[in-house]
Amino acid sequence: MKIAVVGAGYVGLVTATCLAELGNEVVCVDRDHGRVTVLQAGGVPIYEPGLDDLLRRNLDAGRLRFSTQMAPAVRAAELIFIAVGTPPQEDGSADLQHVLAVADQIGRHIDGFKVVINKSTVPVGTADRVARVLRERLAERGCADLPFAVVSNPEFLKEGAAIDDFMRPDRIVVGLPPGDEGQQARLLLTRLYAPFNRHHERTLWMDTASAELTKYAANAMLATRISFMNEIAGLADALGADVDAVRRGIGSDSRIGHSFLYAGTGYGGSCFPKDTRALVHAAGLHGLPMRVVEATEAVNRQQKDLLARRVIERLGPDLHGRRIGVWGLAFKPNTDDMRDAPSRAVVAALLARGAELRAHDPVAMAEARRALVADRQATGHVAAFHAPVDGGADRVPGSVALVDSPLAAVADVDALLVLTEWKCFQNPDWSRVLSAMRQPLVFDGRNLYEPGLMDELGIEYHGIGRRGRVRLMDAAPAADRRVLPA
Ligand SMILES: NC(=O)c1ccc[n+]([C@@H]2O[C@H](COP(=O)([O-])OP(=O)(O)OC[C@H]3O[C@@H](n4cnc5c(N)ncnc54)[C@H](O)[C@@H]3O)[C@@H](O)[C@H]2O)c1
Repeated sequence: MKIAVVGAGYVGLVTATCLAELGNEVVCVDRDHGRVTVLQAGGVPIYEPGLDDLLRRNLDAGRLRFSTQMAPAVRAAELIFIAVGTPPQEDGSADLQHVLAVADQIGRHIDGFKVVINKSTVPVGTADRVARVLRERLAERGCADLPFAVVSNPEFLKEGAAIDDFMRPDRIVVGLPPGDEGQQARLLLTRLYAPFNRHHERTLWMDTASAELTKYAANAMLATRISFMNEIAGLADALGADVDAVRRGIGSDSRIGHSFLYAGTGYGGSCFPKDTRALVHAAGLHGLPMRVVEATEAVNRQQKDLLARRVIERLGPDLHGRRIGVWGLAFKPNTDDMRDAPSRAVVAALLARGAELRAHDPVAMAEARRALVADRQATGHVAAFHAPVDGGADRVPGSVALVDSPLAAVADVDALLVLTEWKCFQNPDWSRVLSAMRQPLVFDGRNLYEPGLMDELGIEYHGIGRRGRVRLMDAAPAADRRVLPA
C-alpha cells in the first residue's frame, strides 16, 4: 500500500520503518530539514534498539523514503498517518497545533479519497477537529465533495522496545468515523494490518472518541500502578517491610500481574506525565474531577524528589564539598529520551544545594546535556557543565560533569545514586566501584541491588521501600572524609 507518515520522531520513524518492512511503499515527512537529511543518509537521529538496521534495509530496498515535502507525499498516499508531537500546555492540555497544522497541509493538497490516521495521542474530539480542518481547506479549494475518513489509531509502543511492540502488538485500536467513509477506511486498514492479525484478530474496532480515550485511559492506568506501588513503598519503609517482596507477592496474582509494579524514583518520559495531565484537564472541562489520576500525579511529584531528600537527610542540607556519582539519566533504559526524566528533578535538587555531580548514562549523554542546559536556563540554578579532568582537579560546586564510564562517575564520590535501570549497572564490579568511592554509600532509585549483598559488601544501602533491610554505616573514619567540611 502507499503510505505517508507525517512526523519522524519516535512514533513516526518506527511506524514508517515497520510498515515499509511489511512491504508497503512509505514516505516519512518531517518539517525538520536537519533530521530529514540525516535520515536520507541512513542515519537515525534517535536511539531505539534495532531501528537503524531496519531503517537502512528498507531505505536500500527503496520502500522507505524521507522528505520535507508534504504535497507529493500526501497526493501519492492512500493512507496518511499523523505522528507529530502533542506536548503539554501550561494548563496541562495537549497542544494540538502540530496535529492541526498537518491537517491543514493535508487539506490543501489531497486530490482523491484518503484515510487520515491519527497516531498522535490526542484528546477526545480531535478526529472531528481534524476532519473540520480538512473540510474547510477542501471547501476553499472548491472541492468540498472530496471524500475522506479521519481515523483514530493510537499508538501503544514503548520506547526501548518499540520495534517489537509495533510488529507484535497486544492489540490495534482503531476508531472509525460513521458512514461509508468509515467503512471504506475499515477495508483499507484491514488490509494494512492483516500481517498482525494472522494468528488471531488483534484489531479492536470502535468509534473515534472511544479510541482516543482508550489511549489516555491506558497510560493513566499504568501510571496509577506505578504511583500505587510508590505509595506502598513509603509505607514499607515506615513499617520495615520490603516492597520488592510485596511486589512479587501481589504480582503473582493473575488478576494483578507483574507489569508496572516497580517502586522507584517515579515515572517520567514523554507520555505518562503529559497524558495524565491532559486527561485531568479534559475531564475538568466537563466539570468532572479525576481523583485517582490526580492522586497518581501528586504521588509521582513527591517520588521524583525522594532520592534527593534521602541524600540531604543522610549528608546534610549543605552539599558544598560533597561529590555525588549518578548512574543513569534517561527516563528508562534502552532510550535516550530525557523528556520529564526523574533524573532531572534529582540533579536540579542536588545542584541547588551545591553538590558536584559526576554522571554517566550509556546512551543518553547528548540528550542529557541538552535537557540539563534547558533546566539550568529555566531554573536559574548555578549549575555549570564542565569537562571532567582526571585526578579530582575538576571540582566545581553546583556543577555536573558528564563522564564516559560508570567507573569515572564514582571517582572520589561521597555517594552513588542509581537513577536508570540500565543492564550495565545491574552487576558492577563492586570492588573497583568501592575502591574508587570515598565511602560505601549507595542510593538505589530503581531497587537494582539485593540489600543482603550490599550488607555483605559493607555498603550502606538505601533503596525504595526497603528501609527495613538497611544497615546504616558507622561514622566514617576521618581519613575517609578528608574533603568534607568539618
Ligand atoms: N514516544 C513514545 O513513546 C510515544 C508512544 C505512544 C504515543 N506517542 C505519541 O505520539 C506522538 C508523537 O510522539 P513522538 O515521541 O514520536 O514525538 P517526537 O517529538 O519524537 O516527534 C515529532 C516529530 O514531528 C515533527 N513535526 C512536528 N510538526 C510537524 C509538521 N507540521 N510537519 C511535519 N513534521 C512535524 C517534528 O519535527 C518531530 O520530528 C505524541 O502525541 C505522543 O504522545 C508517543
